[in-house]
Amino acid sequence: MKSSDIKNIAVVGAGNMGHQIATLSAIQGYKVVCTDVKEDILKKAEEFVDNYLPGRVKKGKLTEEQAKQARDNISFTLSLEDAVKDADYVIEAVLEVLDLKRKIFADLDKMTPSHAILATNSSFIVSSRIADVTNRPEKICNLHFFNPALVMKLVEVVQGPHTSDETVEVSMELCRNLDKVPVHLKKEVDGFLLNRIIRAIFNEAQWMLEMGVASVEDIDNACMYGAGHPMGPFRLNDLTGIDLAYTMAMENFKETGDFKDLPSPSVVEHYVKGEYGQKTGKGWYDYSDKK
Ligand SMILES: NC(=O)c1ccc[n+]([C@@H]2O[C@H](COP(=O)([O-])OP(=O)(O)OC[C@H]3O[C@@H](n4cnc5c(N)ncnc54)[C@H](O)[C@@H]3O)[C@@H](O)[C@H]2O)c1
Repeated sequence: MKSSDIKNIAVVGAGNMGHQIATLSAIQGYKVVCTDVKEDILKKAEEFVDNYLPGRVKKGKLTEEQAKQARDNISFTLSLEDAVKDADYVIEAVLEVLDLKRKIFADLDKMTPSHAILATNSSFIVSSRIADVTNRPEKICNLHFFNPALVMKLVEVVQGPHTSDETVEVSMELCRNLDKVPVHLKKEVDGFLLNRIIRAIFNEAQWMLEMGVASVEDIDNACMYGAGHPMGPFRLNDLTGIDLAYTMAMENFKETGDFKDLPSPSVVEHYVKGEYGQKTGKGWYDYSDKK
């Protein structure tokens, strides 16, 4: 398959990442079907598109015609089968839970055309832990977008031992067509490329917080005004979700059995209180006053 053969993209999971990946694919001219198991999430995703596209027109980033075309390109359904039956490329963006992803990939393998590439947007789970539930392991890879996917240019294309060079080439080219900058990871590695670097910074930031060395605000300020980061590690963690940080650490611990990989006490504290960051209105920072 060539990247020019990709006309139809399916996005499975319309949450934080999925609805943005679907929107950007529609803007770049692909026919996109976005699916989720939750009706309210799907409705929110559709409302987002209906607000976002006119907003881009107002800002002069899209013409009326481009916005209309993008809106026509995207549809939403609760049916996984309807979403993926004509897909040339599937991007899975459901919760970061291995068993769930394995179940979905087994279904995708049955429901999609045999030429379709099936990619996971997982932040942590390498595709070799999923590919064996399909009959097309060579067409399985990680396609890791960053949050917010409509804004962040980087996408990591991770090649597992089972992933063909063709799948990598097509995926890299698809990313370029989506106006992204793809990087090719030639090997699967825990945390992929950028998150390994970010994790090292976040671990250090949490240690300093928990040791009482500095506040959340001051640690963020140090990274922003000293290292030139666009936002500090705590603000970033509120954006990506403390629930995701917790789940990723737990998955890592299950894999390694190493107690130092467990989520830190302050992450656990927020997690058990349901303070996941921006999406719940509270995390390291309080967002309850802001829209
Ligand atoms: N949040 C981030 O910053 C970020 C960044 C890069 C990658 N990721 C990865 O993207 C994936 C999604 O993360 P998110 O933050 O968007 O999560 P999210 O919780 O916002 O969204 C996940 C969605 O999946 C849906 N879902 C659950 N089971 C489903 C099923 N069987 N079929 C269809 N939909 C189903 C849920 O209803 C939910 O809407 C995860 O694998 C995560 O690791 C997240």
